[in-house]
Amino acid sequence: MNLPETLTETKRYLLNRGLPDKPESAVILGSGLGNFTNIIRNQVRIPYQHIPHFPTTSVEGHRGELISGTLSGCDIMVFSGRFHHYEGHDFNTTVLPVYLSKLCGVKKLIITNAAGGINTEFKVGDLMLIDSILRLNHITAPNARNPYRLNIEDTVRKAEEIASEIGLFIQQGTYLYVNGPNYETKAEIRAFRYIGADAVGMSTVPELSEASRLNLKAVAVSLITNMAAGITPEKLAHADIKTTAWGRQHDVAKLVKYFIMKL
Ligand code: HPA
Repeated sequence: MNLPETLTETKRYLLNRGLPDKPESAVILGSGLGNFTNIIRNQVRIPYQHIPHFPTTSVEGHRGELISGTLSGCDIMVFSGRFHHYEGHDFNTTVLPVYLSKLCGVKKLIITNAAGGINTEFKVGDLMLIDSILRLNHITAPNARNPYRLNIEDTVRKAEEIASEIGLFIQQGTYLYVNGPNYETKAEIRAFRYIGADAVGMSTVPELSEASRLNLKAVAVSLITNMAAGITPEKLAHADIKTTAWGRQHDVAKLVKYFIMKL
């Protein structure tokens, strides 16, 4: 499977700290969505800085903690805080939660993020199920030796059904991945819209791609925390992203919970 060898030591440490032997689901939480962890029972919380071979995350609104516990009777592990390229992390580090999930025997991975809305029918606060991705920048998975495809269609279909069963309206669309940390210019957003992007963000694509390559069932949902540059006249600020995220915590938590139970 070609996972970094150091992760065996990471896993051993986590098992000693009380991580369940084979958590069924893992969740990667995006900016400002850390509140989801309130609904987890029997929690064990481990700051990233205590975990061998884990870097810390420097982004505001990301706590940098691994939380394990149970939700609706399922063993889960939650990465509250992720690693971005724009913090200077290499590819293997940005996808560390995916590799660790795979090594621990996780069957379902749920990825959340904050994104800028490009589709003019979207509004701030909407949730968007990612049904496709656009990669303009070069991302090379150093562990990949063979060509592979993003393989999310079945999971997207199932996720759509789940959202509709619980009566939660969600958009669906294409997420365009940028390196950041700068926000895009209006001209870039115009171009991204032209080529078919519905939302833009600085994460998730490496994780989703690696999950596909490793045959780990994964679903990703964006919270539209702002409209992208030039779509509306407002200026972007990280503080606004966090405020919107707080306002939708409850629905995001509900959706993730049902994905854990039913995906
Ligand atoms: N652009 C890129 N990343 C983002 C944005 C945005 O507008 N909003 C939240 N993450």
